[in-house]
Amino acid sequence: MMKKAAKSEKTGKTAKTAKAAKTTKTEAVKAGKAVKAAPAAKAAQRDKVVLAYSGGLDTSVAIPWLVEQGYDVVTMTADVGQQADNMPEINEKAIKTGAVSAHMLDLREEMIENYIWPGLKANALYEGIYPLNSAYSRPLIAQALIYIAQLEDAVAIAHGCTGKGQDQVRIEVCANALDPSIKVIAPVRDWHMSREQELEYAERHKVPVPITRQSPYSLDDNLWGRSCECGVLEDPWNKPPKDAYGLTVDPLEAPNKPAVAEITFDKGIPVALDGKKMKPIKIIDALNKLAGAHGVGRIDLVENRLVGFKSREVYECPAAVTLITAHKALESITLTKDVMREKSGLEKKFSELAYEGYWFSPLMQAIQAFVDKTQEVVSGTVRVRLYKGSAVVEGMKSVNAIYRHDLATYSEGDAFDHSASAGFIKVWGLPIKTWTQAHVKGKVVLSVKDSHLKP
Ligand code: ARG
Repeated sequence: MMKKAAKSEKTGKTAKTAKAAKTTKTEAVKAGKAVKAAPAAKAAQRDKVVLAYSGGLDTSVAIPWLVEQGYDVVTMTADVGQQADNMPEINEKAIKTGAVSAHMLDLREEMIENYIWPGLKANALYEGIYPLNSAYSRPLIAQALIYIAQLEDAVAIAHGCTGKGQDQVRIEVCANALDPSIKVIAPVRDWHMSREQELEYAERHKVPVPITRQSPYSLDDNLWGRSCECGVLEDPWNKPPKDAYGLTVDPLEAPNKPAVAEITFDKGIPVALDGKKMKPIKIIDALNKLAGAHGVGRIDLVENRLVGFKSREVYECPAAVTLITAHKALESITLTKDVMREKSGLEKKFSELAYEGYWFSPLMQAIQAFVDKTQEVVSGTVRVRLYKGSAVVEGMKSVNAIYRHDLATYSEGDAFDHSASAGFIKVWGLPIKTWTQAHVKGKVVLSVKDSHLKP
């Protein structure tokens, strides 16, 4: 599929020195350019592995570890909108740590188009609550790893997930679905090192250890939200401390004056905010800031993990919660009752498939095709009030609305045929009435009885 140009480019031929590779985050990310290590005189060509690299301790230690397993390491860093201040130097750091080349991909728009928007159209919330922010980035990272593996002619990909999470499942199941010929290696799962041993290994292999203070939590974030687990959160009785949050203010400390966001959708996708057409990324950024400042999007959930146990995670998804709320409202005036009911069952399935690593499954594709069909009429504008942690719909309108005032009104202009109801009720209630007539001898025993009579 994607074997092209770089395929014939044997390591070293077009090599740049690591020094010449200094670029800003935007430059590096936009150009998607690879940074390559200075050529080393090598006896034999070694197999390449593409490592998903964040620059943190685990994936940094994974570089020399993979080299020890006999691989040349190529790194792939994905920009999915995470708050990371190490992005500008990350490729260079990978090379310093022993990678033969380092790639960075700007996947923010890709993530919105092909993961976040399909999720929004499906109102996807795992177990009815979690907007799947972390879950969406994994199939995308798997795809990026496979892309670089094909570009670099690598035989394997590697990730820094532990053996306990579901991210390992998602990345591996998705990678195998995209290119079954590429092997997957999970260094952190395989090396059986404690944190102390890992630090000692890092020192021995001269791996630059991140100097930032180790967070008491395990964090993961992107455009669609932030996930925070571990530490004191592991006891579900504990209230999440202030430092567990990073995107939202405490609703109790949110402004006393509400904010209002007017979101315009075209075929299920947000296209404008407060009447101004905006790029998707701008809409999400703006809503994360605005809704976050009003304490909207805090979610505290004990969820059922795919790997069999329950875990507690604190999420912050201000834009996601606001947009899903608005989108559902718009569907309420544009979709028929039967489509809404059928869709809601499939929305649940969609969320489970996304959560459980089945992003590239035929069922997911079929559900997305159904959802896309439903969204053809989901265009219009929704007004949402953001106030002390809540996102409440205040108004909605659509040129495709099947809400009809003349049918709904109890006032002047009522066009509903009241007389039709009598016959309708006769037929609608017929099966139950027939049942009573067939099975109940005498009178139905009522639970409302004499003792309920007020003296
Ligand atoms: N529990 C979420 C999921 O499985 C988030 C996983 C990543 N969370 C983290 N804090 N590192 O989708």
